[in-house]
Amino acid sequence: PADGPGDGSAGSPRQPLAFESRPFASYGSALHIDLPQPLRTGQLLTVEIDYEAGEGPGVCWLAPEQTAGKQKPYMYTQGQAVLNRSFFPCFDTPSVKSTYSATVTVPEGFTAVMSATSWEKQKDNTFVFKMSQPIPSYLIALAVGDIVSAEVGPRSHVWAEPCLVEAAKKEYDGVIEQFLVVGEKLFGPYVWGRYDILFMPPSFPFGGMENPCLTFLTPCLLAGDRSLVDVVIHEISHSWFGNLVTNASWGEFWLNEGFTMYAQRRISTEVYGSAYTCLEAATGRALLRQHMDSTGEEHPLNRLRVVIEPAGEVTPDGFSLAGVNPDDTYNETPYEKGYCFVSYLAHLVGDQSKFDAFLQAYVNHFKFQSITADDTLGFFLEYFPELKEKGVDSIPGLEFDRWLNTPGWPPFLPDLSPGQQLMKPAEELAELWAADGLNMEAIEAVDIMAWRTYQLVYFLDQVLQKSPLPAGNVERLSKIYPKISKSQNAELRLRWCQIILKNNLEAEYSKVKDFLHSQGKQKYTLPLYRAMWGGSEAAQALAMETFSATAAQLHVNVRNYVKKILGLE
Ligand code: BES
Ligand code: ZN
Repeated sequence: PADGPGDGSAGSPRQPLAFESRPFASYGSALHIDLPQPLRTGQLLTVEIDYEAGEGPGVCWLAPEQTAGKQKPYMYTQGQAVLNRSFFPCFDTPSVKSTYSATVTVPEGFTAVMSATSWEKQKDNTFVFKMSQPIPSYLIALAVGDIVSAEVGPRSHVWAEPCLVEAAKKEYDGVIEQFLVVGEKLFGPYVWGRYDILFMPPSFPFGGMENPCLTFLTPCLLAGDRSLVDVVIHEISHSWFGNLVTNASWGEFWLNEGFTMYAQRRISTEVYGSAYTCLEAATGRALLRQHMDSTGEEHPLNRLRVVIEPAGEVTPDGFSLAGVNPDDTYNETPYEKGYCFVSYLAHLVGDQSKFDAFLQAYVNHFKFQSITADDTLGFFLEYFPELKEKGVDSIPGLEFDRWLNTPGWPPFLPDLSPGQQLMKPAEELAELWAADGLNMEAIEAVDIMAWRTYQLVYFLDQVLQKSPLPAGNVERLSKIYPKISKSQNAELRLRWCQIILKNNLEAEYSKVKDFLHSQGKQKYTLPLYRAMWGGSEAAQALAMETFSATAAQLHVNVRNYVKKILGLE
């Protein structure tokens, strides 16, 4: 896009405008438009911009081999955090919201879908979309491919390539509506009309992306047993937290993700109960532990409030320099430390139904706005004057300011003991497997066939933490539990690959390779490359070999992160 000056026009009749372009980070150039005359507040101005979108990071062009069906090419956009500036000219900040409409013409045999409240197919393969609610630029999304749909609820369809649509329907038939209904009960009306899901090609870098009306999901979630629905509940929760009430700056990304994790686990508790939900939350806490261990707790990104543009860093011509790339804030801290902070607020209130009512009032108060953490916390204290009176924002060690601005482990952890009944057996089994002489009798007495996926995930996280295990144990574990070592479930495959690498099990390296060839999700890809690069020579060679074979398929951001890990940049 905006790679250089172009011609444009404003108002009517058309008048030429002066353009100037300036570099912004690595994502192209800013477009500056000088207005022909001063405008009054509220005066309508029409700007028409002709442009072509090319190889920017927000627009992904896939060859047929990169799709599930392998017959037709595919394209999709991914706006969050600041990639949509390579898709269309925009105020690419979450602090600005607008409605949009789009007319998209695609070649014969292709379907276009967008994050829009209405869409209509016209003749000549032209699709007309309208988003009638104001949204920030990062939530505008388009996908074009050989895509079909199937109904899974009164306001929901799944969209996928024809070869995946049956599996997609089976996985989600009936459940989406259940989650939406619980979400509405807890957080207020669902304002977006439809809630559809699009299954993306395997290189989609995220588990899910909450594009309004049309969540994008990785095909890894098609596990066949509904075991990974927490990701869908998460994206549904963004319908209130993130999409309706939005962080005004990517420096406060936790307002989107921390509240969404909290909302996700509230819905999950209503639908699946607290034992299961606490178990899932415990796996989240384990991820936060791993993240903080690998970056160091004091890393500046381990604060909830991150400085994106450091004050005072200004170029000689008066332009402020980008500080932290907002993409780098995509780590466990805003999610899980943010979750702990919201849980802490709930703990201060002390009554779940009162806190639920607060969340609903919060959404209602700030809907369609972009806000800062100060707005959130100010509203909290106004809503609970007795807490404000008590000075809960400045309890030593738990000051709101410390939560926001001090890096490190959360000063409060919610009680996950309702999950103990599921966690305890997994912890005990991991102990048994970490022992020097294996007590096979005790091990065989545990029937993991009855365990849910997240119980296995929790068990594997424990095994990983204790790894490397005494020689021979992992080989034995692999043989005894084909349910784990041969699983096609992506969450289990990730943990199994991590265990293979931490125990340097060269005989099973092909599993790591196969997993990295099969999908390109960032949260699976980066930990495995970090583990390989930190491992033996053979592991490093595996990393290089796998990267050179798969680099072209990876999303450009993920590719660049891997390059950094491998020292290729
Ligand atoms: N909005 C995020 C994905 C995202 C974050 C894209 C930052 C670009 C930059 C989405 O809602 C998300 O959090 N997805 C998670 C799901 C998980 C927490 C259940 C993911 O992809 O892993
Ligand atoms: Zn999210």
